[in-house]
Amino acid sequence: MTAGPSLLDAAPQQRPTQLGLGPWAYDRGEFVAATAPRLPLSTQGLHYGTAVFEGIRAYRSEHGLQLFRAREHYERLLRGCRILRITGIPSTAQELIDITVELLRRNAHEGDVYVRPVAHKLSLLPGTPPGVSLAGVSDALSLTTFGYPTSSGAAEVRCALSAWRRPSSDALPVQAKTAGGYVTSALACDEARAAGYDDAILLDRWGNVAEASTANVFVVRDGVLVTPPASGDLLPGITRDTVITLCRETGTTVLERTLSPADLYTADEVFLTSTGKGVASVVELSGRAIGSGTTGPVAARVAALYHTATTARGGDVGHPEWLLTVTPSEPLPHPSSTPSEGTNR
Ligand SMILES: Cc1ncc(COP(=O)(O)O)c(C=O)c1O
Repeated sequence: MTAGPSLLDAAPQQRPTQLGLGPWAYDRGEFVAATAPRLPLSTQGLHYGTAVFEGIRAYRSEHGLQLFRAREHYERLLRGCRILRITGIPSTAQELIDITVELLRRNAHEGDVYVRPVAHKLSLLPGTPPGVSLAGVSDALSLTTFGYPTSSGAAEVRCALSAWRRPSSDALPVQAKTAGGYVTSALACDEARAAGYDDAILLDRWGNVAEASTANVFVVRDGVLVTPPASGDLLPGITRDTVITLCRETGTTVLERTLSPADLYTADEVFLTSTGKGVASVVELSGRAIGSGTTGPVAARVAALYHTATTARGGDVGHPEWLLTVTPSEPLPHPSSTPSEGTNR
């Protein structure tokens, strides 16, 4: 059986449209054809999960293409780099934003875009003994972009409570998006999908709600939003922060406190937040309907607020610092997809 086309299947020489990998990538200091880079088979980040990554969105609206909260995403990436001793890459959020803007200009996607930067450990430096280490290993940074349309409303998802627990922060730096940490997310998501659900919600070691496989969790009860505290065993999402900020600014109470599975089952509404999903309404959990079993009024309002914030003209929602317009450049010739000498490092 052949699998259907994936986001990664777009031919490199094609101009990207709604879906697909942009023809250019950034790899270790150069803009190259997205299909050209070849990493050594000994790449440490691949063997040991010693990589950190981000998912950043640029939204296309009547105001052009705008990156959303890129600075906060890159600050989180750089904090992760500090944990993994990744130093050999551009070291400020501004430099990383500049690279991203240049890549988006080159790739000229027609619609919404997903930007994927990855910083990782690469090769043992001379004198470093083989083995699992952070010091004495070179570093690399790559960026790719994908056409990835978003919707303005809340998607509906059916979730399973996972048997896999979110690792605790004394076992894994859960506040960083480390590649190795996503093994748990992949196992939980796979388990949920094999049972016919869309996604998984994971508990922490104490049995409290941590987060979904790649999203934060909010509960609505009597019009008040409750979400587990950022100090817990979860990734403090930038979408989570956006939603908390916008809700508080528009008069909705948001509490950060621990939630039990029973809080989910008895909630009026449950929704997830992430850069990838935006705001998604959880309509079922492990075979039980949540609230009315459809998207509730609060999730719908939060999704609309979030959509406005991501597509507004900078300043219209009171946060000009969240949006960065990518001004188009003159069309560039398409890159050659032949691996260039020097990329096979
Ligand atoms: C484990 C996990 N939690 C939460 C989130 C949400 O984070 P953000 O809103 O910054 O995308 C993500 C995003 O990918 C994630 O992977």
